[in-house]
Amino acid sequence: MKKKVRVGIVGLGRVFEHYLKLFKSKKIKNYQIVSLCDLDYKRSNNTKKIINTKFYKNYKDSNFYKEIDLAIILTVSGTHYEICKFFLNKKINVLCEKPLTMTPEKSLELYKLAKKKQVMCGVVFQNRFNPSIELIRKSIDKGIFGKIVNVSVSLLWCRYQEYYNDNWHGRWKTDGGVLNQQLIHHLDIMRWIFGPIVRVSCTTTKRLNKLEAEDTASAIVEFSNGSLGNIVATTAARPVDLQASLSIIGEKGIAIVGGIAMNQIKVWKLINQKKNEEAKVKRQNSQKVLNGYGLSHITYLNKVFKLILKNKTKPPVDAFEAYLTSIFVHSLYKSSETSKWVKLNSGLRSKKLGFKN
Ligand SMILES: NC(=O)c1ccc[n+]([C@@H]2O[C@H](COP(=O)([O-])OP(=O)(O)OC[C@H]3O[C@@H](n4cnc5c(N)ncnc54)[C@H](O)[C@@H]3O)[C@@H](O)[C@H]2O)c1
Repeated sequence: MKKKVRVGIVGLGRVFEHYLKLFKSKKIKNYQIVSLCDLDYKRSNNTKKIINTKFYKNYKDSNFYKEIDLAIILTVSGTHYEICKFFLNKKINVLCEKPLTMTPEKSLELYKLAKKKQVMCGVVFQNRFNPSIELIRKSIDKGIFGKIVNVSVSLLWCRYQEYYNDNWHGRWKTDGGVLNQQLIHHLDIMRWIFGPIVRVSCTTTKRLNKLEAEDTASAIVEFSNGSLGNIVATTAARPVDLQASLSIIGEKGIAIVGGIAMNQIKVWKLINQKKNEEAKVKRQNSQKVLNGYGLSHITYLNKVFKLILKNKTKPPVDAFEAYLTSIFVHSLYKSSETSKWVKLNSGLRSKKLGFKN
């Protein structure tokens, strides 16, 4: 058995800075960073002081990847598909930040390619591993809330214009708007825990920011069990991030997960609950976090490294899951584009997300 997973990282921007802090915290085990890559050499220079390893401008340079077991992709969303495909074709395991690709079909293609090449293609939906979300998932599986009435998400965040003034945020080809960039974690959890979803009705708009896609969206979701969901999402809340919450209304109880990274149980009330139950549940399943990334990249990366050391290729969240969540996202956009309800199994896709320049 190999002792450490040899890692190459592509993309040394903001999210990489978060990874860097985690690597430095020593909470992640069983890896060794052997090569780094970014189109922008300045980013590499900043990193050189912290990680003593080789830098490349082009991930296709064989020296970048010849000694790695895993490529971690932290680049602009619209570049993920090409970069992941390159490494999968080289039979190198891949771990990619969300969203895996800009269209469902491309995620499905990567899923099939990884199977064919017998390597891992994982996608980072780290919030699935928050203790709060794991509790909700287990509770739903056990039927603790009984018949579900409503599941809603509310993401009210503040992104000023400068955030959209780089060369990719808010653009159809490379990012999308609040639905595909910020809300995608919540959409993934909504679908994964409470799905399947039958149909959606969505409206989007631009209120305060100038961008190609939307800064504000509102939607209704119908689940296959008959329950309904509501979505409110915006990056035009001012002057600070207000909330990112998930609320569950069931016949036997209600719960709200809140905090900037869905990291806290805010409400936990079940019929016939013991006296101190709510306080105990909140204490045991909430985390303090410093920012919207939360803490679960640590859990996720440790899981991936352990799996690779055991030569396992099924990641904690695979490309098929990314495919299903991308269908949800595209259905919301399609509904907004056509002003009609869109069924998730209709095969309808947004004409803009991933396409329009
Ligand atoms: N999981 C999360 O909570 C979370 C949070 C924020 C961002 N993200 C995702 O992480 C990804 C990166 O976001 P960011 O905020 O770090 O962006 P960023 O713009 O700060 O950094 C992206 C970096 O990728 C580099 N890059 C682009 N194309 C490249 C290529 N072909 N080869 C090498 N380098 C290339 C750029 O030069 C830049 O340094 C996005 O997909 C985003 O959606 C995930």
